[in-house]
Amino acid sequence: MDTSSAAASASAPASLAALGGRRRFEGQVALVTGGGTGIGLAIARQLAGEGARIALCGRRAAVISAAAHELESHGYTALAIPGNVAVDAVRIVDTVIQQYGRLDVLVNNAAVAAGLDFEEMTAAAWRQVLGVNVDGAFELVLNALPHLAAHRGCVLHISSISAVSGEFDDVAYATSKAALEGFSRRLAVELAPRGVRSNVIRPGLIRTEAFADLPEDFFASQLPMIPLHRFGEPQDIASAAAFLCSQDASFITGAVLTIDGGESAR
Ligand SMILES: NC(=O)c1ccc[n+]([C@@H]2O[C@H](COP(=O)([O-])OP(=O)(O)OC[C@H]3O[C@@H](n4cnc5c(N)ncnc54)[C@H](OP(=O)(O)O)[C@@H]3O)[C@@H](O)[C@H]2O)c1
Repeated sequence: MDTSSAAASASAPASLAALGGRRRFEGQVALVTGGGTGIGLAIARQLAGEGARIALCGRRAAVISAAAHELESHGYTALAIPGNVAVDAVRIVDTVIQQYGRLDVLVNNAAVAAGLDFEEMTAAAWRQVLGVNVDGAFELVLNALPHLAAHRGCVLHISSISAVSGEFDDVAYATSKAALEGFSRRLAVELAPRGVRSNVIRPGLIRTEAFADLPEDFFASQLPMIPLHRFGEPQDIASAAAFLCSQDASFITGAVLTIDGGESAR
C-alpha cells in the first residue's frame, strides 16, 4: 500500500479527458470509499470523467486530499473526507450531503486484510477486518439509503475472488468478502421496491499499490493461472464499475461480475 500522492498521480490514465466522452453520471454524486488509491481511485476518475461529483474517503487525509486535488486539476469536482468507514459512516455520509445535497452512487471499496495464517489470527485482527470490510459497508448503506432512494441510486461492492476461492489471502478477509456478497444479494431484493440497485464486482489479481511489497516471483507464479495472460489494471475494474452504476445496467441488481482474466473459470 503506497501512501504517496506521487504514486497516486503516477498511475493516472494517459488521457483522463478521454474518460469524459460519455456523461452517464451528469448531475450525480458518487461516494467512493478507499478512493485515494488503487481500484477506488480508478473508479473515482472514471465516474468523475463521466460527469459525477465525487466524494472520496480514507483514513490517510494526505492520500485522499492528493487524489481529490488530482481530480480537481482535471476540472472535476471532488471532496476528500478523511475517515474510517468502520467508525465514521454517519459523518462520512452527512458530509457528502452537506457538501453536495444528494448521493446517487455508493461504492463500498475500502478494505483491509489481516495477512495472517489461521493459527496466527487473533480475535482483534479478525474483528478489525470484519469491522472495516463488512460492518463499514453495512453502516454506509444504512445511512446512505434515504439519499440513494431519493434518486433511485445504487450501491456497488468491491469483493474479491477470495469470496469463493480458498487459494488466496487470509480467513478474515475471505470471510468478509463472502459476507459482502451475501449482503449485496439480500440488499438487492429488499431495496428493489425503492428503486435502489446493489451489485458486486469480484476482482482477481489487479496490480495496485496494495501489492507493492510482493516480490516479482509471486507475480511470475500467478501469471500462468490467468487465461488472458496478464494481470488486471485498476481501469479494468473502473470501466465495469461505471457500467454497473449507470442506467445502462438499470435491469441489473443482485449480480456479481467476476473480473479476473478468466482465472476462476479454469
Ligand atoms: N488489488 C487486487 O488484486 C484486489 C483483488 C481483489 C479485491 N480487491 C479489492 O479491491 C478494493 C481496493 O483494493 P486495492 O487493491 O485498490 O488496494 P488499496 O490501494 O490498498 O485500497 C484500499 C483502500 O481502502 C482504504 N481503507 C482501508 N481501510 C479503510 C477504512 N477503515 N476506512 C476508510 N478507508 C479505508 C485505504 O486507504 P487508507 O489506508 O488511507 O484508509 C485504501 O485507499 C478492496 O476492497 C480490495 O479488497 C483488490
